[in-house]
Amino acid sequence: MSVALTVVGSINLDFVATAATLPAPGETVTGATLARHPGGKGANQALAARRLGAAVQLIGATGKDGMADEALGLLRRDGVDLWGVATRPELATGVALIAVSAEGENQIIVAPGANAGVLPGDLPNTLEGAVILQLELPIPTVAAAAERATGFVAVNLAPAAVVPQTLLDRADLLVVNETEAAFYGESLHQSPGLVAVTLGGAGAKLFKDGVEIAAAAPPPVTVVDTTGAGDCFVAALAVALLEGQPPKDALAFACTAGALAVTRAGAQPSLPTRAEVDAALAGA
Ligand code: RIB
Repeated sequence: MSVALTVVGSINLDFVATAATLPAPGETVTGATLARHPGGKGANQALAARRLGAAVQLIGATGKDGMADEALGLLRRDGVDLWGVATRPELATGVALIAVSAEGENQIIVAPGANAGVLPGDLPNTLEGAVILQLELPIPTVAAAAERATGFVAVNLAPAAVVPQTLLDRADLLVVNETEAAFYGESLHQSPGLVAVTLGGAGAKLFKDGVEIAAAAPPPVTVVDTTGAGDCFVAALAVALLEGQPPKDALAFACTAGALAVTRAGAQPSLPTRAEVDAALAGA
């Protein structure tokens, strides 16, 4: 079954410095190599869903600067519909400064730029069909998108931020990592929808009404860069559930997709295709 969805979310250009270790506060680490990749949680999730076979449109914003085309390059190439991406000449394209260690762990600082300029008034009055949201746009915009959605709503509560209870109540699927799960606490499990908690290399668990209904472990992989793996997991879980896969199968699909994403560098360049995920699942 083919799936169509809308992602309302952030678009960044990632500047990635890869070094032996991550700096502690006040420390300078030298000897890094620098790369630039398209990123942003919204854009990453849009591209991940597209590569997994969904028809995807993205709503967001960039500046009108040299970084915008670079940030949108892979989305354009792979056929994400960008009709809803506004150009804001007065704002800079969003930028993420990312440090990656030899173990593939990362630290990220985001300068939102045009992402911070996406306001509720910029959204359509109705968002037909399935919608995926994250928290790198202003929270009132995220909440408005959820309210205007007519179908399935997935919310990746990242980065952790205070959100209205109405957003948690509207979500059919919430996705958090362990840090975010601790931030939101019990309020997560008051949501009427599914709640997925990612556990890094240990996989993920799926809850309904506070009760664990599925768990999945990823295939063994060599970690190169974890950036974007969470975004890949979110998109894959949403796509699989929308395809009608049972929750346990959908969770295994998402864990496998996320695991493949850590085997390559960069957020968007690392996102796997449907064929890669299906092959990995078949070999498991
Ligand atoms: O989730 C990874 C993303 O977070 C990066 O691509 C970066 O842009 C930040 O938004």
